[in-house]
Amino acid sequence: MNTKKLREDFPTLREDDAPAYLDNACVTLKPDSVVNAINEYYTLNPGCGGRSVHRYGTKVSRAVSNSRSKLQHFLNAESASEVVFTRNATHSLNQVAHGLSWSKGDVVLTTDREHNSNLVPWLQLEQEQGIDHQVVASHADNTFDMEAFEKSCADAGSRLKLVSMSHVGNLDGVKIPLKEISKVAHDHGALVCVDGAQSTPHMNVDVQDLDIDFLAFSVHKMCGPSGMGGLWGRYDLLDGLRTIQAGGQTVENATYDSIKWASPPGRFEGGLGNFAGMIGTGAAVDYLSNIDLNEVNKHEIRLNQIMTDGIKDLPGIEIIGPLDARKRGGICSVLMGDIPVHDISILLDEAAGVMVRSGQHCVHSWFNSRGHSNGSLRASAYLYNTEEEARLFAEIFSEAVHAFS
Ligand code: ALA
Repeated sequence: MNTKKLREDFPTLREDDAPAYLDNACVTLKPDSVVNAINEYYTLNPGCGGRSVHRYGTKVSRAVSNSRSKLQHFLNAESASEVVFTRNATHSLNQVAHGLSWSKGDVVLTTDREHNSNLVPWLQLEQEQGIDHQVVASHADNTFDMEAFEKSCADAGSRLKLVSMSHVGNLDGVKIPLKEISKVAHDHGALVCVDGAQSTPHMNVDVQDLDIDFLAFSVHKMCGPSGMGGLWGRYDLLDGLRTIQAGGQTVENATYDSIKWASPPGRFEGGLGNFAGMIGTGAAVDYLSNIDLNEVNKHEIRLNQIMTDGIKDLPGIEIIGPLDARKRGGICSVLMGDIPVHDISILLDEAAGVMVRSGQHCVHSWFNSRGHSNGSLRASAYLYNTEEEARLFAEIFSEAVHAFS
């Protein structure tokens, strides 16, 4: 992987004062091809897809359909009809949560380190419909506890309806053994929904090989437009799902008192869509498809090793998850006791142009349960980051910690 060459593709990285952008778990930078695709939509054919049949409309419809097919191949889905455009992984997870039918007492299992997007919808269903949301505790180092999971499945018995877990945690970069989890869940007759927001951009995610039922992902974490995401689901399951966004495009026909629902994916894409975003998604998928994601993963781990080695012995700090960077992908998230994480984050940017994220990263439950209300400071690497940037982070962060200690 030629990082130096890849950096040339990103307008912000060509600037003389380009930052060391290490907030990729939140949102990634966008290459020229994505920016150009969005620009082309607005400047050359700003029409409406899926409805109008004039030249603008037809061009947009074709481009959107191409983007969907690209995602199908990227995820190795069986058909393009299994790919739904959404606003983000949160929207996708809500579509699954509020689209399935529930009975009182149905059990949904998550881990204890989920993003709010894979926690709050289940808590909401617990309050509103009486489902039983249960949390599978991880090992002390945040790695997956298969024994605890198997016990939770067995205890839930026939009440177990869904296992919904993040493939890779945004809190710590820890990956769960998804294939094994799927097998256990399916053996218990449950469905498997995956929050792939932090895995889809960084590794090959093959929905058929993983044998899962739903996958939620965010395109803005994969070099694509902000506010774009996707939901993949097995067609038969999507076909039985209630839409959470009824309206234009979601019906085949309607009378004053009847609805004939459209087939997936249209049923879930109500209202005029973000066509520029959908077309930009196709460009992002093209971009990532030309890069070996296994190499990206190795590269991120290499950078994480540099960051980890450079900060692990600092006084009063603790890395979330296993110390071994190979088990945390590109994410280095650090607890800092009472040192104000937002102040350090601003300082890193102002002093050295190092951009990271600070706070609770939408995983309030994990921080609350452990009394770490200060949150953490998280550096997250991607394909365009360099070893120099990883070293710069470690150096500036160390200086900041010493200054505040
Ligand atoms: N889920 C995103 C993050 O972890 C917003 O930063």
